[in-house]
Amino acid sequence: MGQHFLFAVAVFQLFLILPVLVQAQSPSGFISIDCGLVDEPSYRDEITAIDYTSDTQFIGTGVSRKISSEYKLNSLPRQFWNVRSFPEGNRNCYTLHSGQGTGSSSKHLIRARFMYGNYDGKDTLPKFDIYLGSKWWDSVEFENASNVITKEVVSIASSDYVHVCLFNINQGTPFISVLEHRVLNSDAYLVNSLQLFARFDFGLQDTKIVRYPDDVYDRIWIPYNSSNLKHIKTSLWVDQGASSYSFLPLPPSNVTRTAAVPANASNNIELHFQFLPRNNASTYYAYLFFAEIEKLEGNQVREFNVFVNGDLLNSNPVKPSYLESIYYAALVTEPELKLWINGTNRSTLPPLVNAIEIYMTKDLLQTQTDQKDVDAIMNIKSTYGIKRNWQGDPCTPVEYLWDGLNCSYAGSGPRRIISLNLSSIGLTGNIAPNMSNLRSLESLDLSNNSLTGDVPGSLSQLHSLKDLNLEENQLTGTVPMDLYESSKNGKINFRFGGNPDLCYPDSDSCQNKSNTIVISIVASVGGAFLLLAATVIFFIFKRRQLVPTRVSSPSSYYKLNKEVQSKKQQITSDEILSITNNFGRVLGKGGFGTVYHGYLGNTEVAVKVVSPSAQGYLQFQTEANLLTRVHHKCLTSLIGYCDEGPNVALIYEYMPNGNLAKHLSDKNEHVLSWKQRLQIAVDAAQGLEYMHKGCKPPIVHRDVKPSNILLDEKFRGKISDFGLSKIYANEGDTHVYTAIAGTTGYLDPQYNISNKLNEKSDVFSFGVVLLEMITGQPAIAKTDEGKTHIIDWLKSMQSESEISDIVDSRLEGKFGTDSARKLLDTAMACVASRSIDRPTMGEVVKELTHCLAMETSPSSLIHDSFYGISGESSLAR
Ligand SMILES: *[C@@H]1O[C@H](CO)[C@@H](O)[C@H](O)[C@H]1NC(C)=O
Ligand SMILES: *[C@@H]1O[C@H](CO)[C@@H](O)[C@H](O)[C@H]1NC(C)=O
Ligand SMILES: *[C@@H]1O[C@H](CO)[C@@H](O)[C@H](O)[C@H]1NC(C)=O
Ligand SMILES: *[C@@H]1O[C@H](CO)[C@@H](O)[C@H](O)[C@H]1NC(C)=O
Ligand SMILES: *[C@@H]1O[C@H](CO)[C@@H](O)[C@H](O)[C@H]1NC(C)=O
Ligand SMILES: *[C@@H]1O[C@H](CO)[C@@H](O)[C@H](O)[C@H]1NC(C)=O
Ligand SMILES: *[C@@H]1O[C@H](CO)[C@@H](O)[C@H](O)[C@H]1NC(C)=O
Ligand SMILES: *[C@@H]1O[C@H](CO)[C@@H](O)[C@H](O)[C@H]1NC(C)=O
Ligand SMILES: *[C@@H]1O[C@H](CO)[C@@H](O)[C@H](O)[C@H]1NC(C)=O
Ligand SMILES: *[C@@H]1O[C@H](CO)[C@@H](O)[C@H](O)[C@H]1NC(C)=O
Repeated sequence: MGQHFLFAVAVFQLFLILPVLVQAQSPSGFISIDCGLVDEPSYRDEITAIDYTSDTQFIGTGVSRKISSEYKLNSLPRQFWNVRSFPEGNRNCYTLHSGQGTGSSSKHLIRARFMYGNYDGKDTLPKFDIYLGSKWWDSVEFENASNVITKEVVSIASSDYVHVCLFNINQGTPFISVLEHRVLNSDAYLVNSLQLFARFDFGLQDTKIVRYPDDVYDRIWIPYNSSNLKHIKTSLWVDQGASSYSFLPLPPSNVTRTAAVPANASNNIELHFQFLPRNNASTYYAYLFFAEIEKLEGNQVREFNVFVNGDLLNSNPVKPSYLESIYYAALVTEPELKLWINGTNRSTLPPLVNAIEIYMTKDLLQTQTDQKDVDAIMNIKSTYGIKRNWQGDPCTPVEYLWDGLNCSYAGSGPRRIISLNLSSIGLTGNIAPNMSNLRSLESLDLSNNSLTGDVPGSLSQLHSLKDLNLEENQLTGTVPMDLYESSKNGKINFRFGGNPDLCYPDSDSCQNKSNTIVISIVASVGGAFLLLAATVIFFIFKRRQLVPTRVSSPSSYYKLNKEVQSKKQQITSDEILSITNNFGRVLGKGGFGTVYHGYLGNTEVAVKVVSPSAQGYLQFQTEANLLTRVHHKCLTSLIGYCDEGPNVALIYEYMPNGNLAKHLSDKNEHVLSWKQRLQIAVDAAQGLEYMHKGCKPPIVHRDVKPSNILLDEKFRGKISDFGLSKIYANEGDTHVYTAIAGTTGYLDPQYNISNKLNEKSDVFSFGVVLLEMITGQPAIAKTDEGKTHIIDWLKSMQSESEISDIVDSRLEGKFGTDSARKLLDTAMACVASRSIDRPTMGEVVKELTHCLAMETSPSSLIHDSFYGISGESSLAR
C-alpha cells in the first residue's frame, strides 16, 4: 500500500510579505561564478541581471579555456563561453564562503553547470565526478558537445563554507562552466539534503526559462511541452503566498500563472518520469503545484484527484482556488513516477497542473575538519604559498587527505589535524604563528627548510604535541623555556639541531654557536605512567561535562536507542499520514516542529512532526529516549514514534484542553477558576518533583513554562515537551554544565550566569509560572517604560498592595485570600535569586497541596506551614 508521504497544504494570501521578500533577497547574497572568466573580473548578465564574477578568488588551480566558436551561439548564455579545465591533480576544489554562519541555521542551493563546446579541440566528451565536500554528488556525462548539464543540490550548510570538487576518474579532463550558490530558509524542502531531478513549468509563456529575478531563490524553471497537453495562462498575479508552512518555497507567479490542461478536454493528464539507476537514490520527493487561473462561471467546477504510481495522493478532491497556489508533496520509493491527474465526476473542466519539482534524497551531510584547524591550515597554506594537492577540505574524504598531514578519525564530530609534515619543501620566512592554532597537533615536522626568526613560544600551547622537529633551518634566538622544559621532562620529543644560531635556555653556549644540539628524550616508564594518570583524570573530567551537550553525529540522528525501539510502537510515515488525516489539523507549532491532531484507532493523539534540522533530531532523540524511561500521571506520555529517514515524528496522548498559556492569555474567553489553577499547579509540581527526585539519575526539564503544561479533559495538568531536558550524568551529581537553553522570562538568572544547571533552575521557572497563574499577567509585560518582568512588577506592587490587587482580575474576586497569599509566598520563594534560597520541588508540592486543601475544605483552614519560607528570600514582605 501507499508508499507516499504526502502533504496537502493550502497556501493563504499574505499581501505584505511578498514585496518584502523580493526586496530582501537581492542578488548581492548570491555567489555566481563564471568559471574560467579571465578577460574581466565580472559582468552583469543581460537577462537575469545577476553579476557573474571570475573564479580566480575561489580556486587556485586549473586553466581557463574558451569553447570552440561553432558552439558560441548568441542564444547561449555568456557563462558558458569559457570553462576552467583541470588537466592536473585528481581533485580540484572551489571553496565557497556563504557567510551564513554554521549549523542548521541555513540551507543552500548549489548549482554547477557544464557545457563542453569542444573547448580543448579534442572533440572527445569527458566524464568525471563532482563532489560536495566529502560526499559524492554525481557523475558528469555529456550526450554531445552542446549539451548543457546542470547539477543542483539543496542541502543544510554545516559550516560557513563549502567545497565543490571535481574528480578525475581517468575518462577525460574535468572542467566546469558555471557555479552558483543561493541561500534558502533553513527548513526549505523539509529534508536535509536533496538533489534536483527535474523542475518544470507547465506553461509555455514564450518558452522562456523563469529564474531570477522572478524566482527570488533563482531556481531555474524549465518549460514543459508535450503533444498531449494544451497550455492556458492568465496575465493576473497568482499569489505565491507565504503560509506558516514556510518549508516549501512556492514557485513565482510567472510559473504558476501558466498551466497545462489535457489537449483533449475529455482526457486526463498523465505524466511519466523514469528515474535513472545512475542517480543511486532510493527515495524521491515530488512537489506538485496547482492554482486555478481561469475565472470560473457559476456552474463550472474544476476538481481532480492525483494518483502517484496508482495511489491516491489527496484525501479530498483537489479544487484549487482562483489565483492562489497550493501544493501537494509525494514521497516516491519506486524507480519511476507515474502521475495521473484525473477530473472527478463533478468536474466540468479538465484537470490542470501548473508546476512540478522532483528531488532525490541524497546524503550530503558533511563530515569536515574542525573550523579552527581549517582556518589555521589555510593561513599556513597562503603564508608559504604551498601548492601540493592542498584542495578542498584537509581531512575529508579520507582517501584524499592533504599531503603531509594526518587527521583524527575517532568517532563523530569534526576531524582534527593531528600531524603536519612540511619537511624539505623549501619553506622560507618565519614559523607561521598559526601553527599553534592547530590545537590537536601531535607531530610537527618543519625540518630541512630555510625558516628564519624565533621559535614562537606559542608552540607550547599545543598540549597534545609529542613530536616537534625543527632541525636544519636558520632559526635564531632562544628556544622558549616551556618547550625546553617539556622536552627535558620527556613530554615532547623536540629536535632543533642544525640551526646554528638557535640556543637553548640553560646553556651558556649561545655565543659559541655550538651546533647540532639534539635533545631527544624518550619518555621514561615513569613519564609514561604520569601521562596515563593525566589521561584518566582528563577523561573523567570530560565525561562529566560532555555527556549532555555533545551533539551526535548526523548518522545517529536517525537512530533511536534500543530501549525506545523495543518498548514503543513504531509507526511508519504512511501511518502518520492516515493518523493525522494528511496533517489536517494543526494543534500548535514550536521551534522544532508542528503538532497535529490525529486518531490512532479510536484514541485521539497529538503528533509532533519534527522539523528536519540537526537540532530538531537532537531534541527528538532526547525526548523519545527520556519518555520511555519516565512514566508519571503528571507527565505527558509517549504512545509511539516514527523514525524513517528524514521523517521523524512523536505520538503523544492528546490533551483536549491545550496548554496552560492559552488559558492564561486574556484573549481566551474561558477563565480558569482559582481551584482549577491550584489543581494544575499541584499536578505540574508533582510532575517536576518526579523528574527531580523520582528519576535516577535525575532530570532537569529546563523549559518549564505555561505553554509546556498541558491540560486534559478535566483540566488536570501534565508536564510536556522534554526536548531540552538534561539528564544528570551520574546519580550523585549536583549539577550539569550546559549551554544556556530555555525561554526568556523563565530562565534561572543564576544558571544564566554560571551555565550550572540543577533542579533549582526548574523551581525558578515554575515560580514564574505560579506568578502568572496568580496574576494572569505574562512573565514579561510590555509597558510604556519598556519590558517589565513579572517578578519586578510584583516587587514594586507588594509593599502597599492588597492580595486582591495582585490576583487575576478575571477571577472577579472568586478566590480564597489565604490560599492566594500562601500561593504567592510559595511562588516568591521559588523565584529567589539565589538557588540555595529556593525550596525543592518536594517542598513546593507540599505547600501547593495545602493551598488546594484550603480551597476544597474552607472550613478547615490550615495555617501551619510545612517549612518556613525564609523571610529574606521571600519577596512577599
Ligand atoms: C545534444 O543533446 C541534447 C540533449 O540530449 C539534445 O537536446 C540536442 O538536440 C543535441 N544536440 C545536437 C546538436 O545533437
Ligand atoms: C514575469 O512576469 C513579469 C510581469 O509580471 C514580466 O515582466 C517578466 O518578463 C516575466 N518573466 C518571464 C521570464 O517571463
Ligand atoms: C509544443 O508541442 C506541440 C506538439 O508537440 C507543438 O506543436 C508546439 O509547437 C510545441 N510548442 C513549443 C513552444 O515548442
Ligand atoms: C477526445 O477523447 C475522447 C475520449 O477519449 C474521444 O472520444 C474523442 O474523439 C477525442 N477528441 C479528439 C478531438 O481527439
Ligand atoms: C485516470 O484516468 C485515466 C484515463 O484518463 C485512466 O486510465 C486511469 O485509470 C484513471 N486513474 C484512476 C486511478 O482512476
Ligand atoms: C550507490 O549506492 C550503493 C549502496 O547504497 C553504494 O554502495 C554505492 O557506492 C553508491 N554509488 C555511488 C556512485 O555513490
Ligand atoms: C463516477 O462515475 C462513475 C461512472 O461514470 C461511477 O462508477 C463512480 O461511482 C462515480 N464516482 C462518484 C464518486 O460518483
Ligand atoms: C594517519 O594515522 C593513522 C592512524 O593514526 C595511520 O594508520 C595512517 O597510516 C596515517 N596516515 C598517513 C598518511 O600518515
Ligand atoms: C616527514 O616527511 C619526510 C619525507 O618527506 C620524512 O623523511 C620524515 O620522516 C617525515 N616526518 C615525520 C615526523 O613523519
Ligand atoms: C592566523 O590566521 C588568521 C587568518 O589569516 C589571522 O587573522 C590570524 O591573525 C592568524 N593568527 C595568528 C596567531 O597569527
